[in-house]
Amino acid sequence: MIKVAILGYGTVGSGVFEVIRKNKDVISSKFAEGLEVKYVLDLRDFEDDPVSEVLVHDVDIILNDPEVSIVCETMGGVKPAYDFTRRALENGKSVCTSNKELVEKYGPELLQIAKAHNCSYLFEASVGGGIPIIRPLRTSLAQEEILSITGILNGTTNYILTKMETEGLAFDDVLKRAQEKGYAEKNPDADVLGFDACRKIAILTSLAYGKNVSFSDITTEGITNIKDVDFAYAKKLGATIKLFAKSMKKNDKYYAIVAPFIVSPENPLFAVNGVFNAILVNGNMGGETMYYGKGAGKLATASAVVSDVLDCARHIGKHLEVKWDSEKLEISPLDGAVRRFFVRVSDTDEARIKSVFGEADILTGVAGGECGFVTPEMTEKEYKEKAAQYGNVISMIRVD
Ligand code: HSE
Repeated sequence: MIKVAILGYGTVGSGVFEVIRKNKDVISSKFAEGLEVKYVLDLRDFEDDPVSEVLVHDVDIILNDPEVSIVCETMGGVKPAYDFTRRALENGKSVCTSNKELVEKYGPELLQIAKAHNCSYLFEASVGGGIPIIRPLRTSLAQEEILSITGILNGTTNYILTKMETEGLAFDDVLKRAQEKGYAEKNPDADVLGFDACRKIAILTSLAYGKNVSFSDITTEGITNIKDVDFAYAKKLGATIKLFAKSMKKNDKYYAIVAPFIVSPENPLFAVNGVFNAILVNGNMGGETMYYGKGAGKLATASAVVSDVLDCARHIGKHLEVKWDSEKLEISPLDGAVRRFFVRVSDTDEARIKSVFGEADILTGVAGGECGFVTPEMTEKEYKEKAAQYGNVISMIRVD
C-alpha cells in the first residue's frame, strides 16, 4: 500500500478522504498496490467521523514518517501551506494540491524543490476543479505549440451570467440569489472581479509556454459592469456574454486577458452554462481540443487531486517533470491586440458612428436614447482613441 497523508479536512480534503475510501477497489483494480490514507491533519476534532482514526494535529508526525510518500495539500491559502509543502518535498514526499493561490505564487520554486528531491509537485485540481487540463497540457499536448487557450474558468460568474441571460435579471439580484443558494461566496470579489479566473489562466499559460506568467501582468476585468440590457443586445446579435480568461501567442508575442466577451454560437464555449467550466485549447498541429466539467465542488476537485496521487504513486522515487521555469514570460501590452468591439453610445447618430468607427453593424431600438454597434476589427489602442474621439460611450464589451 502506498501511504498518503491529507493536510486539511475541509471541503476538498474530506473529499480526497472519501474518494480514496469509497473507490478503494476501483483504485486497486488499476493500481494493484493500492492507496491508504495514513494520516489526516487538521486542528479540529471530528468525533463519530471515520477520519478520527487517522486524525493528527501535528504536521511533524506526517513529515517525519518515512512511510508516507504522498501528501495532499488541501488547506488552501499560502500560510502555512507553503511551509508544509516545502518541507514535505524536502523530505522526498510528493505533494498533490488543489491550492491555486500557492501554485500561482510559488509554482516554479516548489517544482524545483521537488526535482532536487526526486519527488513531484502536481496540481491538476488547482484549475478547473475536476476537469483534466493540467495533465493534457503537460503530456497529451506537449508536442503542440499552443496558439491560444480560452477558458470559462469561474463557475460563480458563469452561473451569474447564465441566470442574467435566461431570466433577464440584473447582476445584483442574481448575485444575491447565488449567495443565498451557496453558489457565491459572502465576499464574492475574487470571483466577480475576475481575480480567480486570472490566477487560473496565469497557471495554464505558464504551463503552455514553460515560463512564469505573473498574475499582475494580466489585464483583468470582472462582470460587475455587465447590465441586463447588454444581454438584450447580445440576443439581438444571436450571441451571449461569457467571462473569458484567454491567452495567446501571435507573431512571437504573448497576450493574456480576463474580461467579459460577446460570444457567438459557433464558439464551442457558447454552450457552457451555469456553474460548469470549460477550456478550449488551440494547438498548431492538432487544432482545437476542449475540456469540460465541474470547475468546483468537493468530489470533482478531490477526484482531480487523487488522479495526481495515483500518478505520483506510480512514480515513487522519480520526479514527474512539469516544465515551468521561474523566468518571466513577457505579456505584451493589450494595446496591440486586434479584435472587434461591441459598444453602447448615448445617441443614435449612425452617420457619426460610421465616420469614427468605420463600417459598424448598428443595433437600434433595444433601449431608449442609445444604440449599440459592433466595430470592424481594430487594435485595442485604436478602439481607445476612437472611443475618446466619439465621446458618448456608455460601455464596451470585446467580441470574441
Ligand atoms: N470560486 C471558484 C469558482 C471555485 O466559482 O469557480 C473554484 O476555484
